[in-house]
Amino acid sequence: MIKLHDKYFKPFISAKEIDAAMQRMANDIADDIGDEIPVFVGILNGSFMVVSDFVKKYPKPCEVTFIKLASYEGVKSTEDIQRLIGLTQDLTGRTVVILEDIIDTGNTLAEVHRIFKNEEVKSLKIATLFYKPEAYKKDFKLHYIGIEIPNKFIVGYGLDYNGLGRNIPEVYQIKETQFMTNLVLFGPPGAGKGTQAEFLKDKYNLVHISTGDVFRFNIKNETALGMLAKSYMDKGALVPDQVTIDMLNAEVEKNSGAKGFIFDGFPRTNAQAEALDKLLESKDSSINAMVALEVDDEILVERLIGRGKTSGRADDADESIIRNRIKEYYDKTAILKDYYSAQNKYYGVDGVGSIEDITVRLSGVIDKL
Ligand code: IMP
Ligand code: MG
Repeated sequence: MIKLHDKYFKPFISAKEIDAAMQRMANDIADDIGDEIPVFVGILNGSFMVVSDFVKKYPKPCEVTFIKLASYEGVKSTEDIQRLIGLTQDLTGRTVVILEDIIDTGNTLAEVHRIFKNEEVKSLKIATLFYKPEAYKKDFKLHYIGIEIPNKFIVGYGLDYNGLGRNIPEVYQIKETQFMTNLVLFGPPGAGKGTQAEFLKDKYNLVHISTGDVFRFNIKNETALGMLAKSYMDKGALVPDQVTIDMLNAEVEKNSGAKGFIFDGFPRTNAQAEALDKLLESKDSSINAMVALEVDDEILVERLIGRGKTSGRADDADESIIRNRIKEYYDKTAILKDYYSAQNKYYGVDGVGSIEDITVRLSGVIDKL
């Protein structure tokens, strides 16, 4: 990931892919033009790198010139194209190929056509390395296209964001979600996870996704995924990870404007942790931290027996059941501690003390992410 001014960009098209696309265009154009000597016209500023690499790949004699137009402000194309340097040589009777870095709305291309309207060239062909079909609003034919890309802002290989990024040899795409704080919250039964999740959710504007709640919601509302999950549970089988991930994905998508998520009760296995990473990656995001509340076993037992007296939860009443749940927690989560530690994302937080003390400790971790 890179940052230019205030925005983050992620790797999108490698230098190798660009090179291959350029080679293809050079070959196609050379085949079509034959033995005539073409004039390649680059549109500055963006196309300087395209032109430079293109003509090195062009296998036959050619001429090169530039015109300079300007249209972009920040990350938006504007209608108002300025002509900064026009044609400086007579191209009457010549075969002209426009070399563009990118065609977006086509406004710049319209200006190019206006410039050539009164030039009596033999033929005018348009070649562009990148093309955003969803953004294109004109009817001008594009004769050679290197790579079609979605309608998202890119930088690198001549393309800039407010002046920066032109010198990068590969292409980066803007990150949709600029800042997210995604936490995996862990803690043995009785550690105060629920209480702290409530607090973190409000303080950091996060969405709390408790896998248990998500399951109950989907089953109760008989969603397609809920029914699918239930069909496994009814057979006494484990619900496949993909079903759980699909439910979480739906939850994440429901909250697409969120500042981040607290995942609670998921992942439980390495495979699930990897699936969660993939899900977040598809949203241009990632897990920032696994935060685990650490509480001594004896204190947990004491707390849970106390809670059992008032909550009436059967599993909170019996000491051996409690100890078993705690043991199971450590058996199961040890793998995940390793998974996130390996990425330097594991944060153990002392979960003994007043609720306020613990929230201060948690905030200390999150504020530093
Ligand atoms: P159009 O006039 O909307 O077709 O846009 C063409 C010009 O806008 C290009 O020559 C670039 O200078 C700029 N542009 C369009 N899309 C992008 C982008 O994704 N990144 C950087 N510049 C862009
Ligand atoms: Mg340009």
